[in-house]
Amino acid sequence: MATKYIEINDDRPKPIIDKRPEDDYKNLDTKAIKEFSFNKSKYFQIDRNSLIPGSSVNFNIFIQKGMDFQAVIKADKESHVALNEELLNNFHSDAACEVVISEGDIHLYRSYLDSLLRSSKSSEKGQAHKKAFVIKENSKMLMKDLLNDPRSGEKIKEVKNSVNTITDSLLENKDMIYTMLTLSKYDYYTYTHCVNVAVLSIGLAIAIGLNKEYIENLGTGAMLHDIGKTAISSEILNKQGKLTEYEYKMIQEHVREGEKILKENKEIPEEAHSAVLQHHEKLSGKGYPYGLKGEEINLFGRVTGISDCYDALTTQRPYKHAFNPYEALKIISKETEDYDANLLTGFIKMLGKMKN
Ligand SMILES: [Fe+2]
Repeated sequence: MATKYIEINDDRPKPIIDKRPEDDYKNLDTKAIKEFSFNKSKYFQIDRNSLIPGSSVNFNIFIQKGMDFQAVIKADKESHVALNEELLNNFHSDAACEVVISEGDIHLYRSYLDSLLRSSKSSEKGQAHKKAFVIKENSKMLMKDLLNDPRSGEKIKEVKNSVNTITDSLLENKDMIYTMLTLSKYDYYTYTHCVNVAVLSIGLAIAIGLNKEYIENLGTGAMLHDIGKTAISSEILNKQGKLTEYEYKMIQEHVREGEKILKENKEIPEEAHSAVLQHHEKLSGKGYPYGLKGEEINLFGRVTGISDCYDALTTQRPYKHAFNPYEALKIISKETEDYDANLLTGFIKMLGKMKN
């Protein structure tokens, strides 16, 4: 069966059109892409909905358009900028951009989010949404830190706490899933993808009635599913366009590399490993790294695989279109050869109320 999503997902099987010898890889990188991925790593993608009229910021805010980053709000500790509708409309109305802040201002963004939580202007429902929103943004910040230092035992412990908080919040109110997901994604940021995949996997685990301990272990594995990408060259990960056979094999290695990192950390229950090792396996046997088939892929691998595929479908890249949630669900619902049909049904029901 033809897999339509292949065109927009960077690390899924795709036809190898451009075969090159291994040593050709050295010539593939371009200065521009290198520079862009370096620049991008110095910013943090924030959810634009966190910028609320009536609040004020003491950090610069930038927009990312394609490979460019432009300052749209200039503020610092001494000169706070009050946010109003007019100011925010300048970039809120432009869906085709990401809103980012400097990596060095993450602590100021954290304080800003805390101040939003403390403000008592909202209703009980509004306050619950704010809390869910802040949990998501904090999880993204934590994942950015962990991806910079993937062997930090302390950060891995924090991931478990973060997953437990997400789980408690979704168990209390499953509709918070819409607040915890980053829906508008103009570019791919690994940490945002990790949090989305964890939220989707936890949501699906709740929908199918797993017990809390299983849900938390699955969520931890899902949050860390791509941690092995830290061991893969960023030139290959960020390459735009067709991959050579060698590059594709290197990218596939991220699952085994991820498992290695998990094995080094006793905090991570062994049960969570399969979410990392099996998230690219397909029921048809056409996945990787082992080409496992049907029952050989366990529940954690199956759930994480669906969440990962869905999030990739709905993420835009500067050079690729993103599907809206409705289109993405329609595409994924047909992939029963590769994904568990019962889980797909649960997944579609879970996201059924999503606004396009
Ligand atoms: Fe992956």
